[in-house]
Amino acid sequence: MASRRGNAKTGEQADKYSVLLPTYNERENLPLIVWLLVKYFGESGYNYEIIVIDDGSPDGTLQIAEQLQKIYGADKILLRPRAKKLGLGTAYIHGIKHASGNFIISMDADLSHHASTLPLKQKVGGYDLVSGTRYRGDGGVYGWDLRRKLISQGANFITQVLLRPGASDLTGSFRLYKTEVLEKLVEQCVSKGYVFQMEMIVRARQLGYTVGEVPISFVDRVYGESKLGGN
Ligand code: GDD
Ligand code: MN
Repeated sequence: MASRRGNAKTGEQADKYSVLLPTYNERENLPLIVWLLVKYFGESGYNYEIIVIDDGSPDGTLQIAEQLQKIYGADKILLRPRAKKLGLGTAYIHGIKHASGNFIISMDADLSHHASTLPLKQKVGGYDLVSGTRYRGDGGVYGWDLRRKLISQGANFITQVLLRPGASDLTGSFRLYKTEVLEKLVEQCVSKGYVFQMEMIVRARQLGYTVGEVPISFVDRVYGESKLGGN
């Protein structure tokens, strides 16, 4: 486990954001998303690191990530690859183990998410978890066919009715967590794939953590194709 900087109890430390970027065949998208993150965090003055978790992408994503590490520095771009495609949920869990920030941001590497809204919302409300939502306020989804929309809305609706989690977007992966909170949630986690996001936010509510939401426009990827199946 990477050591957290500063002393959380006295609040003396400066905040640090660890961005988890799981990748599978994202060679076209990775340079741009990393550039956008470096620009955002550079301008905001926040301390950060970007952790790329590549699962043996056959398209050479890892080699691109190595180039980016040379450009931006090994303290900013951390490479924590795995040998083969082991699923999105376990990719996050793997990344968390290497995170040194007191906040963790999870997001897709295919330019569907833009990190900038999360830290501000967290600071305003002091939330344990901030979740991007496509289903409230100005949020929305662009570029999905009817089948994808139905799968996503169906999964959200069923879980809303069964578990009453008190959050409007359960399946999205655009989130910010206090690191110690996410570690607690992960200890109890049983899912391995895409269901991970749902499990995390439902457990967060059950354990009494505070959840803030920011409306997001999810724009489907331009390069490459989705790895999510109907299951
Ligand atoms: N390391 C690793 N291993 N990364 C993966 C894997 C895997 O097995 N599968 C997917 N990824 C990465 C992709 O490269 C991308 O950065 C991100 O995880 C999301 O994958 P996509 O294939 O782009 O997912 P999507 O756009 O179809 O699904 C989106 O909506 C879902 C439902 O709302 C994502 O936001 C999902 O996280 C979300 O659950
Ligand atoms: Mn995507």
